[in-house]
Amino acid sequence: MFKKKAFFIVFEGIEGCGKSYQSKKLYHNLKKKKFKTVLTREPGGTKNAEEIRKLILSDYFGKKEKKKFDRYTDTLLYLAARNEHVKNKIYPELKKKKVVICDRFTDSTMAYQVYGKKVKKNFIDSIHKIILGNLKPDIVFILKVNLKTSRKRVNKRKNKNRYDKFPKEFYKKAQNAFINIAKNKKRYVVLDSSKENDELEKKIFQIIIKRVSK
Ligand code: TMP
Repeated sequence: MFKKKAFFIVFEGIEGCGKSYQSKKLYHNLKKKKFKTVLTREPGGTKNAEEIRKLILSDYFGKKEKKKFDRYTDTLLYLAARNEHVKNKIYPELKKKKVVICDRFTDSTMAYQVYGKKVKKNFIDSIHKIILGNLKPDIVFILKVNLKTSRKRVNKRKNKNRYDKFPKEFYKKAQNAFINIAKNKKRYVVLDSSKENDELEKKIFQIIIKRVSK
């Protein structure tokens, strides 16, 4: 049997990279092996953070350009949601020695707000210092996808017009940002998620089983 151990897993990548799909698959695969596992997401994950999520996403993808939140307001909302999530879910669940799988975390703020929208990095870093303390993911999967494939996947969803709210260049930049963040870091694993088969699911599961069994 595997030891009970707190383990924090994050999935990152652009829209349509398959991270929500892979998070769910990993969650079910770990549950089958009797790991106490929690699946959560950002922005969101708690009742209050989900309320903030609604506010952000309706502004982000819903309204006309002129009425949009200022990018610093938008950033503060992501950070506010994160504060709620970390304090009320991530920390308490890790304390109970559970495996926590989170669909997006701090690297999304780096890729979208810092690299994408040119929000000052030190503004975010100083708030992160206070709201995160020592919290760091044990492993981050960056799912890299062919941009045409990701667009196709997003267009299949109910909310079809989401991808078109930003130019293709934005997603290319965001994806490059994720890959740059991962460079030379032991905790990061970059995987190609363009193919539609179960190879990736198996690979991710093997990587996690190795690490949680150490
Ligand atoms: P998702 O649930 O499809 O991943 O959507 C969340 C959106 O929020 C996505 O467009 C990325 C964006 N986002 C940021 O811009 N910054 C962040 O810190 C997070 C967590 C998400």
